[in-house]
Amino acid sequence: MFTNEEKEAIYKVIFTRRDVRSFLPDPVPEEAVKRIIKAAHHAPSVGFMQPWNFILIESEEIKDRLAWAAEKERRALAIHYEDDGRSTKFLDLKIEGLKEAPLTICVTCDPSRGGSHVLGRNSIPETDMMSTACAIQNMWLASCAEGLAMGWVSFYKKSDVRDILEIPPHIDPVALLSIGYTDVYPKNPILETAKWRKREELDRLLFHNKWSL
Ligand SMILES: Cc1cc2nc3c(=O)[nH]c(=O)nc-3n(C[C@H](O)[C@H](O)[C@H](O)COP(=O)(O)O)c2cc1C
Repeated sequence: MFTNEEKEAIYKVIFTRRDVRSFLPDPVPEEAVKRIIKAAHHAPSVGFMQPWNFILIESEEIKDRLAWAAEKERRALAIHYEDDGRSTKFLDLKIEGLKEAPLTICVTCDPSRGGSHVLGRNSIPETDMMSTACAIQNMWLASCAEGLAMGWVSFYKKSDVRDILEIPPHIDPVALLSIGYTDVYPKNPILETAKWRKREELDRLLFHNKWSL
């Protein structure tokens, strides 16, 4: 089905992809945006419900308001790290590049799409959100393959983002994605480089037949 070269290319994208928070002002080509969104729309979804929408944001004013919502949340969350003395370190981390990135895409999840009996969603309601996350991962990989950087921003109160983007109350704003070119595509996760957290040893996460520690 795939040549060895094609197979290697897939793994190369998977291992190269990084969360990026620093962007150049150069615009993102329209064709690349279309391909990235199409990649999202071809993600798997529970009962094929395709619960996503994509709001493309280029307005400086709206990006500024989203950055304000993220900054407010970042400061509010710093309090959680006061106990273990990591609040200063946390506040030093750059956790978004919303103002810098030329394009922000808000990916939403509509839990009502497909009606009340979406195949498979009745057992685990969060599968709508899981489906949306699959679409976002496709966008991350597609951006990387396009030579573009993407950052997932989740530091915000959903109510703030709903207000700013005029999203109806039953729709979930799952992610704000910053997309653009960068001159600092990180080789390793930024949180690893900042010594915040290391990648777990894969062997310790792998069990056979039963959960075992
Ligand atoms: C659901 C989700 C939410 C995230 N939210 C943020 C965020 O708000 N700000 C941020 O800087 N990174 C965010 N990230 C990126 C993670 O910090 C990043 O994926 C992780 O540190 C591993 O780095 P890597 O993506 O470069 O491999 C998020 C990632 C996921 C999957």
